[in-house]
Amino acid sequence: MWRKASVAALLALAVGYLYHGCPELPEQLLQYISPDGLRSSPPSQRRLEQVISDAWDSLITLPTGQWSRVAVGYCQEPNCFVNTSNKTPGVLLCGPVGPKLHEMLDEQIVVPPGSLQEMDEYHLILEYKAGEQWGSTRAPQANRFIFSHDVSNGAMSSLETFVASLDEFQPDLVVLSGLHMMEGQGRQLWEDRLKEAVAAISDIRKDIPIHLELASMTDRDYMNSIMQEQVMPIVSSIGLNEQELLFLSQAGGGPHAHLAAWKGVPDVGQVSDILLWILERHGRSDPSSEADLTRVHFHTLAYHVLATVDGHWANQAAAVMAGARVASSQACGTRAVDPTKVELKVPLSFHSSDSEPRVALTLDPAAPLTAWRRGNVTFHMTPVLVCKQPLRTVGLGDAISAEGLVYSEFKSQPGF
Ligand SMILES: *[C@@H]1O[C@H](CO)[C@@H](O)[C@H](O)[C@H]1NC(C)=O
Ligand SMILES: *[C@@H]1O[C@H](CO)[C@@H](O)[C@H](O)[C@H]1NC(C)=O
Repeated sequence: MWRKASVAALLALAVGYLYHGCPELPEQLLQYISPDGLRSSPPSQRRLEQVISDAWDSLITLPTGQWSRVAVGYCQEPNCFVNTSNKTPGVLLCGPVGPKLHEMLDEQIVVPPGSLQEMDEYHLILEYKAGEQWGSTRAPQANRFIFSHDVSNGAMSSLETFVASLDEFQPDLVVLSGLHMMEGQGRQLWEDRLKEAVAAISDIRKDIPIHLELASMTDRDYMNSIMQEQVMPIVSSIGLNEQELLFLSQAGGGPHAHLAAWKGVPDVGQVSDILLWILERHGRSDPSSEADLTRVHFHTLAYHVLATVDGHWANQAAAVMAGARVASSQACGTRAVDPTKVELKVPLSFHSSDSEPRVALTLDPAAPLTAWRRGNVTFHMTPVLVCKQPLRTVGLGDAISAEGLVYSEFKSQPGF
């Protein structure tokens, strides 16, 4: 231990010296001196990533009952719910589909005539890393801008078309995404449209699970509205990231609402507290509740948690690991996880909650799935192997949730 500490001090000195002399400090050196690098040196770190990746491949198995027909209402990525292998379920895609997009879609995707339009909508996404240069300007921090010319998504005009197509398509899962596209349309419009959206979603047959992807919300008032207008209790499953999770808690006076923002990797215990609160407050944790929400797929850069009310879902361990595996490969732009291009960022020990009872938990790299129970809710957590040089982060939330759903099984309740 002391030896490691003195090595750290030496390195710090050396780097401090170098840094003053040379502001262009090589990135590898910085990584080496960072606390992550010190905790375990690069060679053993690489082994850990390999161990986790191998464990995922052997542990992730498809559920016994797979979806046969999935209806997707709006997707940012043309192929976000499509796996072109044979097991791919039939997919109905509603959303504005112009000629270019239609050409790019897999043959197995059904687009209802009402969704076809003469012109494509488009989004332009500009992403840069801290320190990148454009002309004489150097970016002080990493950022992403999305410009969209997306008239129909903005107004959600496809939602009614979508719901109307469901009777004929007979899906066994409905996936909704893109509510955030209404955010920029001004308060009056989104308030009205949200009411209509809720009415339309309520028309979907009760025995069909609905997953809503919340990711990409930025407006607290809008988020609040989504809670109040009761979008949450009429869907069975939601997918969100750490920002939306905290918004939800702040909007509804939930746990850790006093946090202004997460610092670094969100604490697993605090995240678990908010997830439990969502399922108890807005979900069906109590069987006598009217709410449908029984599943929350939480994703943040360093790890994912799938929280489910007991008795409604199966294959959760594989589902959460499959979502993390796709995040780890897709961010790097590789087909499979490349253990040399990724790193583990989540601590291997954490707690089940931030308050009592606070159970100490650990993550075993050889079986990278930690599960715990609170009340009527079970949590499944797995790390993400974070891409060191990410190439593709847009649409990652959709991909994670979609993959998680492919591996999930819904147990329809007796009584429906
Ligand atoms: C599609 O599914 C197969 C079978 O589960 C899997 O091996 C493959 O990696 C998936 N492809 C993509 C692009 O996700
Ligand atoms: C858990 O489920 C039981 C019935 O199975 C119910 O009585 C109890 O209220 C539920 N707990 C919570 C916190 O919803």
